Amino acid sequence: MTDVLVLSGPNLQLLGERQPEVYGRATLADHVGRATATAERHGLRLEHLQADAEAVLVAAVHGARGRVPALVVNAGALTHYGWSLHDALAAYDGVAVELHLSHPSGREPWRRRSVLAPVVDGAVAGFGGLGYELAVEAVARLLAERRAPRGDGVAGA
Ligand code: DQA
Repeated sequence: MTDVLVLSGPNLQLLGERQPEVYGRATLADHVGRATATAERHGLRLEHLQADAEAVLVAAVHGARGRVPALVVNAGALTHYGWSLHDALAAYDGVAVELHLSHPSGREPWRRRSVLAPVVDGAVAGFGGLGYELAVEAVARLLAERRAPRGDGVAGA
């Protein structure tokens, strides 16, 4: 049973080599390793999938429905135009956190819009190598809050 499915979109398998001045020198395996350690600290089992194809990510979100309580999605450039991924996430019933290593809102104009933003709980962006683990941390807190009896939560009301 997976508690949190981390999805990495197109070109993210090149992390470490790809534009290191923007995305840093850590590889995707490094990020996933840190995220997994964070998940384990919270007693959560993490699974990771990287795909360049939007269809593969859409299928993964469908597969998570009713089965996996939380998603972390770094959709890469699909963030800005991936309407099929938007629709898949709109039909997803768990916690969903959008993730970016960089801070797209402060970059080129075409990166400033996220089509995923309306269908996720929140976003972690701009924290570089901390991003994957911070996103898992957010998931752990949100899941704990949703599982807590009413009135025990910290955020929300
Ligand atoms: C990214 C930001 C996107 O704009 C870009 O296309 C990526 C990586 C990030 O992690 O900062 O591929 O999602």
